[in-house]
Amino acid sequence: MTILVTGGAGFIGSNFVLDWLRQSDEPVVNLDVLTYAGNLENLASLDGDARHSFVKGDICDRALIDSLLATHQPRAIVHFAAESHVDRSIHGPGAFMKTNVDGTFTLLEAARAYWSALEGDAKAAFRFHHVSTDEVYGSLKPTDPPFAETNPYEPNSPYSASKAASDHLVRAWHHTYGLPVVTTNCSNNYGPYHFPEKLIPLMIVNALAGKPLPVYGDGQQIRDWLYVTDHCSGIRAVLAGGKLGETYNIGGWNEKANIDIVKTVCALLDELKPSAEGPYARLITYVKDRPGHDRRYAIDARKIERDLGWRPAETFDTGIRKTVQWYLDHPEWVARVQSGAYKDWVSKQYN
Ligand code: NAD
Ligand code: DAU
Repeated sequence: MTILVTGGAGFIGSNFVLDWLRQSDEPVVNLDVLTYAGNLENLASLDGDARHSFVKGDICDRALIDSLLATHQPRAIVHFAAESHVDRSIHGPGAFMKTNVDGTFTLLEAARAYWSALEGDAKAAFRFHHVSTDEVYGSLKPTDPPFAETNPYEPNSPYSASKAASDHLVRAWHHTYGLPVVTTNCSNNYGPYHFPEKLIPLMIVNALAGKPLPVYGDGQQIRDWLYVTDHCSGIRAVLAGGKLGETYNIGGWNEKANIDIVKTVCALLDELKPSAEGPYARLITYVKDRPGHDRRYAIDARKIERDLGWRPAETFDTGIRKTVQWYLDHPEWVARVQSGAYKDWVSKQYN
């Protein structure tokens, strides 16, 4: 048996592949086009491991996907590949439509052709697992209950609209063609291998470099944080036991305001790597807000707990400490991802 993972060189995908092969010997075929966010160094510990086959390629390439499915005969596709950064989607939405919408469509069509030709147990066992986001539900008011699976879709950014479109395609391919799909909608992840354009790793690497810590608007926006390996275990639970055609919200019950996240990172760095210049919080700088910035996300994760027995293993305190320590222990990883392309992004976004 084999699974096909898309986007397995990105932040969550690479954590998923590493975690999968820690728990099982079932091989992984990893299809990733290696955009700026894809990094084979994340998977360096799998060099020479016959259970992992990396294929550099695009999910929009139908012929390539057909040939991978025919060659490897996977029992499941776990689909992470996406453009994932909201700020980039504001500057240039085209790539988001291409990968997140067209790419998911291409993958669904290839999966449908492959699955239709399967027979017996192989056909019954096949799964298409679509990895999605809580952002499709829009923004919550302070007193609203957290997002349940039944919330209407109200995406507000080009990124979340493209993910919402992909979720709808996945749903339709189940209802119309019977494709055996499951979808997970997860809250904000953090942890090792997180590209430093996202809030938590950006704050860690900027603080260590003595650079400003850019907080958008008033810093009171709320996100619901989940340590990345808890997301991975949630995906494994849904892949193994999720009901076909259903969606499952995954979240950490960790609602925090951005400014509190930044202050927590600063306090941990003060403890673990104190700066001679004084507390890192001196670097906090309020900057222009993100256009259309969603105020609050929060996940009601009761369905996945009730139906599949999943709960996060990490608290925010344990997860954020591990994360800060990981960045302190991997300065060479940080230095290498801060390539020319990364520098171009930073000057476009913050100057
Ligand atoms: P990421 O940007 O770190 O990684 C995306 C990966 O997809 C990269 O390796 C990239 O090279 C690859 N990719 C992009 N376009 C591709 C294409 N056309 N063909 C093949 N590969 C391509 O993203 P991430 O944060 O790891 O997110 C993974 C998935 O999880 C995404 O679908 C995202 O929407 C979803 N998600 C992310 C979060 C989060 O907090 N990061 C939360 C919930 C859901
Ligand atoms: O909710 C799940 C989503 O979480 C995923 O679907 C996305 O792929 C992922 O990128 C993430 O989206 P966010 O926009 O919430 O993540 P980001 O790290 O970009 O920002 C988190 C919050 O921090 C958000 O309110 C914006 C704010 N922020 C971000 C950056 C990069 C700042 O205040 N300053 C910054 O420099």
